Amino acid sequence: MDEKLLLGQVLTFMDDPFARGWQAASRHSTRSGIVLRDGRIAATGEADALRRAHPRAQVTDYGEALILPGFVDAHMHYPQTGIIASWGKRLIDWLNSYTFPEEMRFGEASYARTQADLTLDLALAHGTTTLASFCTIHSESVTAFFEAAEARGMGVVAGKTCMDRNAPEGLRDTPRSAFDDSKALIETWHGRGRAAYAITPRFSPTSTPDQLAALGALWAEHPDCLMQTHLSEQTDEIAWVRGLFPQARDYLETYERHGLLGERGLYGHAIHLEPREIDRLAEVGAAVVHCPTSNTFIGSGLFDMAGMKARGIPVGLATDTGGGSSFSMLRTMAAAYEIGQLRGTPLHPAQLLWLATEGSARALHMGGQIGTLAPGAHADLCVLDLASTPAIAQRSDRAEDIWEALFPTIMMGDDRAVRDVWVSGASRRG
Ligand code: GUN
Ligand code: ZN
Repeated sequence: MDEKLLLGQVLTFMDDPFARGWQAASRHSTRSGIVLRDGRIAATGEADALRRAHPRAQVTDYGEALILPGFVDAHMHYPQTGIIASWGKRLIDWLNSYTFPEEMRFGEASYARTQADLTLDLALAHGTTTLASFCTIHSESVTAFFEAAEARGMGVVAGKTCMDRNAPEGLRDTPRSAFDDSKALIETWHGRGRAAYAITPRFSPTSTPDQLAALGALWAEHPDCLMQTHLSEQTDEIAWVRGLFPQARDYLETYERHGLLGERGLYGHAIHLEPREIDRLAEVGAAVVHCPTSNTFIGSGLFDMAGMKARGIPVGLATDTGGGSSFSMLRTMAAAYEIGQLRGTPLHPAQLLWLATEGSARALHMGGQIGTLAPGAHADLCVLDLASTPAIAQRSDRAEDIWEALFPTIMMGDDRAVRDVWVSGASRRG
C-alpha cells in the first residue's frame, strides 16, 4: 500500500471559530502526523503512534513547520494575472483600461494555456490548492484552465465569463451563445475528475436581462453547478445597475429576477448591501466572498464580516487577482484583519485561517472534501515555516501559543513561508 506520513505541527478545526469561539473550535498539536493514501487523508494523530501504526509509510518530517489544509481562494480571475498591480483606477475604469484589453487575448488558446499554467504555479507556490476562477468569454480560456488544473491534480472551479453589453467588441457574446457555450463546457468539464463548473455572468452591468435569464435557465437545468458573479462592490457600480435595471429594487434583485439567486450562488465583494439583500442572501443560504486586498486596492469599501457571520451567511475568502494585489492567501488574511480593525471587529488568527481554508471550502460547497484535514478529504496541504524571514522569526520566537506563533506569518508572510504544498497526495515541491 502506498502510504505517506507527514510529521510536524498540526492545527485542525472541529467547528467554525466564528460560531463556537476559537478555543473550542480548534485543536493544536506540536508533534503530530497526517497519513496520506490514494490522494486522500487517511488519518491524523500523534506522530509516534502513527509511525507505529504505519511502519511502511514513506515519512517526511517537517520538524516545527505547521501542516495545514491547502488554502482555498474562492474568487479570482486567472486572465488578470498579467495585469495585477495596475495603477490608479476605480472599478469601471480599471476594467476598461486594463482588464478588458488583457482578456481579449484569451481567444488565442496558446496564450490562455500560458497564463493558466503561470497562475496555477503561482497559486501553488503560495500554498493555494483550490481556486474558483472567472475565465474570459472565450471557451478556450476555460478549457486551458481546467486542463492546467487537471495536469496538476488540482480541484478547481471555473466558468466562461459571459458579457453581452458594456464590453468592447471582441469581448461580447449573446444570450444564446452564452447559454450554448457554457452548456457545452458543463458537459465536458463539470464533475470530470476534480473539476467543478460555475455558471459565470460577470456582473449585471455587462449582461442584458435576456442574457441573465438565459444563464438562469441554464442553472435551473444544471442545479448542481455553482454560479459565480459580482455584487455591490462599488457605489458607482450600484448606481449604474440602478439605471440599467429600473424595475429592480436593488442589485441582488437583478440576479434574483433572472433565476440567478440560489444556495449554490457565490457573490463576490458584497460590500454595500441593502437590508433586503442581506435578508435574501441569508434566507437562500447563498455565499458571499470577501476579497480584502482588492477592496483596498480598487478603493471599494469595508466588507462587514461580523454582520454577515451574525446573519449566518456563508463567507469565503479570496484574492480577486488581478483586482486583488496579491496571490497570497496569507496577505489576503492580513488584509481581512486590517479591514476588520477599520470596522472595529478584529478577527482572531483562528478565524482568518478558517476563512482561508474551511470557510472558503464551505462557500464552494466542498466542505469535507477540501480545506480540512479530516480523514476522507483530498490530500491538499500547505506546510508553513513560521520563521520564514528574520522579521517574522524574531516575533514568532517569543510566542506563547500557536496563534501568537502563526499571526506574524499571517501578517508578514508570503510565498517564502510555504515550505511545501501537496495536491491530491503528491508534493508539488518535490
Ligand atoms: N466586477 C466585474 N468584473 C470585475 C472584475 O474583473 N474584477 C473586480 N474586482 N470586479 C469586477
Ligand atoms: Zn472578481
